[in-house]
Amino acid sequence: MKTSAAPYRFGIAWALVALLGCGDAGTVSSPPAEPLDYEATADDFECLKNWERVRNVRVANKLGFLDEALALARNPQQGLEYPVGTIIQLFPGEAMVKRGPDFDPANNNWEYFELLVSSAGTEINVRGREEVINMFGGQCLGCHEDAREFDFLCDKKRGCVGLPIDDAFITRLQETDPRCQEESAGARGR
Ligand code: HEC
Repeated sequence: MKTSAAPYRFGIAWALVALLGCGDAGTVSSPPAEPLDYEATADDFECLKNWERVRNVRVANKLGFLDEALALARNPQQGLEYPVGTIIQLFPGEAMVKRGPDFDPANNNWEYFELLVSSAGTEINVRGREEVINMFGGQCLGCHEDAREFDFLCDKKRGCVGLPIDDAFITRLQETDPRCQEESAGARGR
């Protein structure tokens, strides 16, 4: 059952094994252990401009699987999942974070976040599954589950009910992320 939840990661793991030159066919040991879980803290969120933008979203991975996450974001594939530790954001104030396989297996283990951002940094206001509601009063999971086949990413719409904002506005929200000024001013050495 684990394989069906993570075909993409296993694909990468095996490709790596092949690349690293395990020449003796048949004696390849099991793929590297997958991280068990990833529980984000407020400090894991930062100025969105620090993260790569793919179409209109910003993508990060805190466990070293950024290449895999970016590859899937650039080329969405039905049935494939983002690696554990992936953070995806459209706006500074909302995030989806990929947890480990025990978090919410019925819904691909995404944890939804409402964040409070300011020049002082990020605070986590609400986190979880059904209980997280967006700025327009809608339940995150309720909309995103319509894109179940694409790992719950609505990506412009898919099956999801649309958001009442356009790409220009989304870009502006990212560009004016209040946390960015703090970093460029170097106010807080961390
Ligand atoms: C009314 C339905 C709806 C609700 C409620 C909703 N979303 Fe979305 N969300 C969307 C749609 C549609 C998009 C795609 C928007 C676009 O690309 O223009 C999206 C995009 C996103 C993205 C970018 C990745 C993707 O799916 O394309 C993230 C991250 C996200 N939403 C997180 C959240 C979080 C967190 C909440 C709750 C706090 C939430 N959303 C609530 C419909 C919704």
